[in-house]
Amino acid sequence: LRGGLQDLRDRHGRIAFVPTMGAVHAGHRHLCRVAGRHANGVVASIFVNPAQFAPHEDFDRYPRRFETDCQALGEEGVDLIYAPTREAMYPAGFDTRVQCPGLDSDLEALHRPHFFTGVATVVTKLFARVRPDAAVFGEKDYQQLLIVKRLAEDLDTGVHIIGGETVREADGLALSSRNEHLSHSARAKAPGLYRAMVKARLNLRGGDAVASVEARMQAEITAAGFDSIDYVAVRHAGTLQPLTTSALSSEPARILVAARIEGVRLIDNLAV
Ligand code: PAF
Repeated sequence: LRGGLQDLRDRHGRIAFVPTMGAVHAGHRHLCRVAGRHANGVVASIFVNPAQFAPHEDFDRYPRRFETDCQALGEEGVDLIYAPTREAMYPAGFDTRVQCPGLDSDLEALHRPHFFTGVATVVTKLFARVRPDAAVFGEKDYQQLLIVKRLAEDLDTGVHIIGGETVREADGLALSSRNEHLSHSARAKAPGLYRAMVKARLNLRGGDAVASVEARMQAEITAAGFDSIDYVAVRHAGTLQPLTTSALSSEPARILVAARIEGVRLIDNLAV
């Protein structure tokens, strides 16, 4: 990695970084193209990070297809791919964790308590190894993006964090590696999540109260065929704190949702 990075720096100067867990789809491809706009040298990583999966989660069935992933990343202008082994990332005796309690204690964290510590720790390590000038993270994982921005600043990484817009299917479903697990019928129902958020945004813009918009979103997601909802929330876009209805006119807001359909957990979010 060090040799490759030195070569890239000599040739291109600035380096932008796109961390991934592989299973590359059009959303990742977009992030690579965004990275290419911010630096001439682009590095991507492929590492399915065990620290961000709980024992009952889908670590073992997370899609792994190294060769096709490398080809896709290469097609999007990635110059160097870093794919460490689990042992290289977490050698025996590894014991440090990175946490951002102001942002990593609510929403996703209430349902996946281990998740953000795992993400923040691996991202900190990846930044220390790759030492990029900029790094691109998808807005699809909005809470993750805010946490990475926080840690990048707090830990003096010098990495400029860029949010890459969510890429959607024509019917609104946000691209995700987990969409592969959707059955035919679940896939047909899944865009209901996006439709509920779009309606909620209209209602919020029309002046409806936050609590009633959240309640209607819950009902619409259930009616769309989702089996259960982890959360539906309208929050401050920068702090993720709950927003009063009157604050909506002056503060940036974000709608965030997580729901399950036939055993597949989907998350999404939308700017208001
Ligand atoms: O968003 C992801 O794919 C992962 O959480 C990340 C940032 C690569 C860390 O493992």
